[in-house]
Amino acid sequence: MEIQKAYTIPDLPLQYDLETKEVLRQVNRANRKLAELKGVAQTIPNERILISSLTLQEAKDSSAVENIVTTQDDLYKAGLDFKYQLINAATKEVLFYREAINEGFRIVRGKNILTLNDIKRVQEILEQNSAGFRTTPGTQLKRSSDGAVVYTPPQDGTEIVRHMANLEQFINDTQLSQLDPLIKMAIIHHQFESIHPFYDGNGRTGRIINILYLVISGLLDLPILYLSRYITRNKGEYYRLIQAIRDKNTNNAAEWEAWIIFVLKGVEVTAIDTITLVKKIGEMMDEYKRIIRPAFGGKYNHELLNSLFYHPYTKIGHIEANMQVSRQTASRYLEKLVELGLLQKEKMWKENYYINTRLMNLFIDFGKYDASDNRDDSVESVYVKEKEGL
Ligand SMILES: Nc1ncnc2c1ncn2[C@@H]1O[C@H](COP(=O)(O)OP(=O)(O)OP(=O)(O)O)[C@@H](O)[C@H]1O
Ligand SMILES: [Mg+2]
Repeated sequence: MEIQKAYTIPDLPLQYDLETKEVLRQVNRANRKLAELKGVAQTIPNERILISSLTLQEAKDSSAVENIVTTQDDLYKAGLDFKYQLINAATKEVLFYREAINEGFRIVRGKNILTLNDIKRVQEILEQNSAGFRTTPGTQLKRSSDGAVVYTPPQDGTEIVRHMANLEQFINDTQLSQLDPLIKMAIIHHQFESIHPFYDGNGRTGRIINILYLVISGLLDLPILYLSRYITRNKGEYYRLIQAIRDKNTNNAAEWEAWIIFVLKGVEVTAIDTITLVKKIGEMMDEYKRIIRPAFGGKYNHELLNSLFYHPYTKIGHIEANMQVSRQTASRYLEKLVELGLLQKEKMWKENYYINTRLMNLFIDFGKYDASDNRDDSVESVYVKEKEGL
């Protein structure tokens, strides 16, 4: 069943004046919240704290596996000792997503550009294969419920490369467009999803590109603003707005504007949620510090406090490594933190783990979302071999 119309992927920059009054108003709101988030994040003493917790939240939301992974707690456990556990495929997918963000951030940090090779690297980790850009025809986007083809991306390998080269230039050449980076991000995301350069994982790679773009544009220092929650929670609207631009094909400035506003709103609401979460983490750290400091006296060290916030689960080996103390000392410290009521001890995989339950609960609350609220259909890349015909 075909419901699509033909779409001509435009060269960027777009030839419209997209900075309408309404767009600018929303750009300002989004930028204000983003700047606030950047500032709040700087109050957390060690960047590992936010990166490790927020990338896992994002990986879960983006991989949309709420129903498959039973609890966030299981996910944290699996992420902790990846190699030891027989973890299921969905959990693995989440952890590869997290690895892809981390690698992407490591690559772009400091160099402030995002190349096609970087994008390929991210997708390679995500999908755990190195197929690269599509070279063989046969990929379509199908609605899961009835198999209807909603969009057919370019099939020709050279065409894909040409569009991606144009996109790479649009991302990195700041002379090419004077648009606000947040507006550019919305355009980049749409364009990337239209080109759909990979056989699979284009949605997730596109969402990681958003984060990396915020970092290379200097809007954030760390990869901590994740639009996936917003996108999965507004999936129907997200798909509809993406496709409306294509269905109109020409003279579609109004459709572009609606899309951009949707993305900018996403930045604003997600930044607001993330600011709240980061503040709560900061307050909890202060509170823990007020208890730990007097109890440990001269032995108090920032790393002790930080170690309880890198991950809700800590073990003796972590403290040993983070604080450069002996195993015995590390063990004694952790036991003392249990006595102080800050950690709970649990034995797993023949080892003791010390759980920061309050931190865990904070993430559980943040991630809480009833997937049944969102009954929108999914759309996915389906690759059909050429012989079978498109
Ligand atoms: N008309 C469209 N309707 C819905 N999605 C579209 C459309 N065009 C492009 N897309 C993009 O295609 C993505 C799905 O493609 P693909 O299966 O390659 O990605 P994924 O990462 O495996 O899936 P997902 O994004 O669902 O996690 C969607 O997330 C969306 O960003
Ligand atoms: Mg897919």
